[in-house]
Amino acid sequence: MTEKDKYAVFGNPVKHSKSPLIHAAFAEQCGQAIQYRAVRVEPGDFQRAATSFFDQGGRGLNITVPFKTDAFRFADTLSERAQRAGAVNTLCRRDDDTVLGDNTDGIGLIRDMIANLGWSVQAMRVLVIGAGGAVRGILEPLLRERPRELLIVNRTAAKAAALAAEFASLGKLAGGGYDAIGQRQFDLVINASSAGLSGEMPSLPATLLTERSCCYDMVYGSEPTVFMRWAAQEAAWAVADGLGMLVEQAAESFYLWRQVRPETRPVINNLREMLAAA
Ligand code: ATR
Repeated sequence: MTEKDKYAVFGNPVKHSKSPLIHAAFAEQCGQAIQYRAVRVEPGDFQRAATSFFDQGGRGLNITVPFKTDAFRFADTLSERAQRAGAVNTLCRRDDDTVLGDNTDGIGLIRDMIANLGWSVQAMRVLVIGAGGAVRGILEPLLRERPRELLIVNRTAAKAAALAAEFASLGKLAGGGYDAIGQRQFDLVINASSAGLSGEMPSLPATLLTERSCCYDMVYGSEPTVFMRWAAQEAAWAVADGLGMLVEQAAESFYLWRQVRPETRPVINNLREMLAAA
């Protein structure tokens, strides 16, 4: 029997990662002989663990918290979007045995919003909450869609302003503290702050939503997040969590590794059912 090509996700914690399930579903659907494991890497051990994985014939890795910057440094070459993001979530061994670093998070978000949810970014007034690594990864693909305006707001205003300055050559955007929202209204609001993970809600004025506003939280869970509950209560037009983004970024990684594009819809539906049953 021929050995299956080896893939894995490196992270910490990684026990609850859905990536092995997602990639197993893609592999079955596309008839690809791969094995995919979740590997917990200890802090400070990324370089060694990744080197050992590829030395043993590994074909590709997904990288999750807290190693996306380590993976950025590890890659021999970087895609343009990974370079812009300053972070790598996918490593791919090339035929010449060099390792390419890519970032599929941003395209995953865009595909979920546009192809799956039927929302649009083009010509919209977009508000992004947060200014950490997750935001850095989505700014280029968002700006490529040509929103009418893009405002980044963050608890630490200076970080949002610095990000806006860094990406200014790609489109019209600004950054500041929550007070920069003022009385302005937005068509699309993306929560990329990790405040919700501790059950906290950034203090946003309800006036920023219209009855046509779409609100996206980049995290997901079995229950709606605090941000999603807020948006629904304030009568946003549509509200979504980040489960679709998770599957879409995985599909883009799978495509990079196998040159086959899996269908994401059935996988998203299955995961949604699993979460609801949990
Ligand atoms: P990630 O990779 O998920 O972006 P990160 O780089 O640590 O993680 O960024 C976390 C983001 O969530 C930041 O924008 C952070 O705001 P600060 O830059 O002010 O730290 C935001 N965040 C985390 N906890 C928060 C809270 N309780 N209230 C508001 N914002 C919070």
